[in-house]
Amino acid sequence: MPRPAAHASDAAAAPGDPLVDTHGRVHRDLRISLTDRCSLRCTYCMPEQGNEWLAKSSILTLDEIVAIARVAASDGITTFRLTGGEPLLRADIVEVVRRLAAISGPDGRPVDIAMTTNGIRLPDVLPALVDAGLRRLNISIDTLRRDRFHELTRRDRLDDVLDGIAAAAASGLRPLKLNAVAMRDVNDDELVDLVEFATAHDAQMRFIEQMPLDAGHTWDRSRMVTQDEILATLSSRWSLEPVPGRGGAPAARWLLDGGPHTVGVIASVTAPFCGDCDRLRLTADGQLRNCLFSTTEYDLLPVLRADPAAGLDVDIDRMLRSCVRGKLPGHAINDPSFLQPVRGMNAIGG
Ligand code: 5AD
Ligand code: SF4
Repeated sequence: MPRPAAHASDAAAAPGDPLVDTHGRVHRDLRISLTDRCSLRCTYCMPEQGNEWLAKSSILTLDEIVAIARVAASDGITTFRLTGGEPLLRADIVEVVRRLAAISGPDGRPVDIAMTTNGIRLPDVLPALVDAGLRRLNISIDTLRRDRFHELTRRDRLDDVLDGIAAAAASGLRPLKLNAVAMRDVNDDELVDLVEFATAHDAQMRFIEQMPLDAGHTWDRSRMVTQDEILATLSSRWSLEPVPGRGGAPAARWLLDGGPHTVGVIASVTAPFCGDCDRLRLTADGQLRNCLFSTTEYDLLPVLRADPAAGLDVDIDRMLRSCVRGKLPGHAINDPSFLQPVRGMNAIGG
């Protein structure tokens, strides 16, 4: 019997229906954090010491991740972005990519697999990842100066990251994106250098406004480098022409001197793009989140581990729909009552 057109906020929504929230946003992108561990300790993300790591026993297995991803794809998720911590620290990373890339949506089209990484292991694993089905890469690089890199990440590994970016540039994966969090008195004098570095690698530089996500809770709005400041700095070197048609993408983009190269800015704080958000997140320990900043999590571990025989797909679907239904219109960073999430970025996934 035909069902009436369903809405996710409507109890009639069923497996296979799109994941539409109460504000009409259709969810297409699932960010999957594979581990909270990292080879760096970026100050805006993790404390130097005393981080409380997730219990090993709570980390999703490959089969569990695939079980969730299959249901998500059948509900209209078309992109899986693998994050961390550092996703390449996961020993079975190639197998994760291979199994996820084999999933297709209801229309029979394969899903798109992307990854956000610090780049350090790329020279070793990139060929295997591409063979397994990885399609796109974002690599974080906040500074090109070795002393600064060491101070900012608390590890002397700039050369390893540069080797990773070179490997990515040599691979066929495009568009290649490089991410930097813009920070006052840390790297705000390097914005032009970073863009030049990126274009020399046929990559798109993207600057991110710093968000209150550090485990040390030291974020200070008045010290944040804003989108306006970033654009003012870049205009001293290039003419910037906005690229229309951003869709649900977090970065607004500008052509540099008429193109073809572009620069992106992710202005999560001064120009939030929540109205177009199509993203959900899965933490390494099986918690679904509908926003980086949400204070509610939807726990899939009991669903996956309690009674594997009992209608697992239906239960996962129901949890995805609850998570989507609970999504607020925006993150309210700019609201005086804003509360920072308890988890740091490394445990949420970027
Ligand atoms: N604010 C903005 N971006 C952040 N990232 C990590 N922590 C923050 C923060 N507090 C970025 C990283 C990386 C991606 C995973 O998220 O630089 O590019
Ligand atoms: Fe690691 Fe990324 Fe956090 Fe830096 S921002 S410590 S690279 S998880």
